[in-house]
Amino acid sequence: MIIARTIEALDAARTTLGPLALVPTMGALHAGHVSLVAAAHESGLAVAASIFVNPLQFGPNEDFARYPRDEAADLAALRAAGCALAWLPDASVMYPSGDATVIEVAGPAQRWEGAARPSHFRGVATVVAKLFGQIRPERAYFGEKDWQQVQVVSRMARDLALPVTIVTVPTMREPDGLALSSRNRYLAPEERRRAAILPATLQDLRAELQNDAVAESATAAALERAHTRLRDHGFAVDYVALVDAVSLEPITCPRAGSRLLAAARLGAVRLLDTMSVDMTMVREEISSEVH
Ligand code: PAF
Repeated sequence: MIIARTIEALDAARTTLGPLALVPTMGALHAGHVSLVAAAHESGLAVAASIFVNPLQFGPNEDFARYPRDEAADLAALRAAGCALAWLPDASVMYPSGDATVIEVAGPAQRWEGAARPSHFRGVATVVAKLFGQIRPERAYFGEKDWQQVQVVSRMARDLALPVTIVTVPTMREPDGLALSSRNRYLAPEERRRAAILPATLQDLRAELQNDAVAESATAAALERAHTRLRDHGFAVDYVALVDAVSLEPITCPRAGSRLLAAARLGAVRLLDTMSVDMTMVREEISSEVH
């Protein structure tokens, strides 16, 4: 595996390796990242992974300084996963002095994480655009767990006509359902046990909503019950929402292409989760019963 830390070394690696599939990361790699690398291998392209803890996407009171960093373990994981290239720029390569350009994002970036973490998606979009410019991948792989991030990056790639295909990879979960995340390691053992209530709540909510007869009032009541259940288990709930999967605007009834998004804090750890509410499936079942 080639390890590049400068633009010159990266350019030389790109010449050697040819077209690339990119897995952008902030390190602290876990099995979810390895599944992104595995998905990238399916493209048949050489796989590059970037590791850069991006200061621009952290707010002033967030965990940039204490975000987990373990370069040796991350490089070993990327090597074992068969990456051809690891791109590890430092902050002066990513944000050279005199840097005066950022990407402003609206649309799918505005609500939810965008409201809870102002300027977060501006930081994500800016660094991802830079990564695309540096690595020039044909395809880039993002985890479904950060659903809003995927929509923001996809919209940016479309709006700026960036020549890259964005690929979404399903969330990997612990046996109790908790979505894998680098921040899970900060959960105290008792919080870790309770954390599984978040995916369980979304799953139950999805089962309630994935029913063709759900009306607006029943949807609102089901969302409220999910809030209450989480609060009763000690979560500080930011949002549990039913949204259009692409625009991320809230919707009042489930329909094809709807999605649940949730963010809630347990102690100091903010957990995100998301699940699709697949009404096409329900409609297909109903029409096959009718015909
Ligand atoms: O999802 C992440 O790890 C980060 O937001 C990303 C896409 C690597 C940009 O810093």
